[in-house]
Amino acid sequence: MAEAFCPGLIGVQATSETAIAEAAELATLLGLPLLDVDAAAAQDRFAALLLVSPGVLALSVPDRPGQKPVQVDFGAAGMRHRRRGGQNELLGRAVGVGKKSPLRVLDATAGLGRDSFVLADLGCAVTLAEREPVVAALLRSGLVRAGNSADAWLREVSGRMVLAEGDVCLMDAATLVQQDVIYLDPMFPPREKSAAVKKEMALFQALFSRPAALGDADALLAWALRAPVARVVVKRPLKAAPLADRPPSHAIRGKAVRYDVYVLSGPAPG
Ligand SMILES: C[S@@+](CC[C@H](N)C(=O)[O-])C[C@H]1O[C@@H](n2cnc3c(N)ncnc32)[C@H](O)[C@@H]1O
Repeated sequence: MAEAFCPGLIGVQATSETAIAEAAELATLLGLPLLDVDAAAAQDRFAALLLVSPGVLALSVPDRPGQKPVQVDFGAAGMRHRRRGGQNELLGRAVGVGKKSPLRVLDATAGLGRDSFVLADLGCAVTLAEREPVVAALLRSGLVRAGNSADAWLREVSGRMVLAEGDVCLMDAATLVQQDVIYLDPMFPPREKSAAVKKEMALFQALFSRPAALGDADALLAWALRAPVARVVVKRPLKAAPLADRPPSHAIRGKAVRYDVYVLSGPAPG
């Protein structure tokens, strides 16, 4: 199978002298080339750059200068706004918030962690699995930043989130057996039209060679349904077929997305 990720296309660059050591450490960790702080010309050789500032990691695409770099910022206005939207309530109902405290949710496709953060804000203890090392690095940076925030709410919510880098299908049995629910959002469907979502999709599609391989998502569902959990929840575009054409026990429909809920005979929450 082709490698999912094209490391040669991404460079790491510090945005100031004070972040050089952090950038060098990250480049070594990810096996990516390190650019000099002032290497403006060299940027063209890369599809994307991981920009390291003290305490903040961001991913930018040099040939799209108008676009703001993507970063994980759980304290951003968008996250706070989302908190008040009805969408959160749907996600909470889908995973079964209220059935147990804390409900332990494995977000098997954590991405930039927005759904995980919503779940943690609803009181769930969330394990975030992410297999793409660059995305995992962005997540780690966002979690550390939230944990060090002056905002007590951010510190408390991020305190319920734990990153588990790697392919979730290879997760150790001891971690898996602790989970009540597995949540899947495996694809980047064009389900939202906002500029921010388009920007992220373009970035991710530029970086990953199998961004939305349907077969991959079907296999992920098959794995989740074999796991020792009480339920599996899959986020789908509103009108899409269920993953693997496997009908859920029930579905919760929002304006743009649907949550397919598979109730299993695994350990019941509560
Ligand atoms: C659509 S994104 C998830 C977006 C996320 N729900 C959010 O709110 O930001 C899907 C993510 O799942 C990750 N992924 C897909 N299959 C995976 C697997 N088997 N193990 C771990 N991560 C996986 C991809 O690398 C990608 O970052």
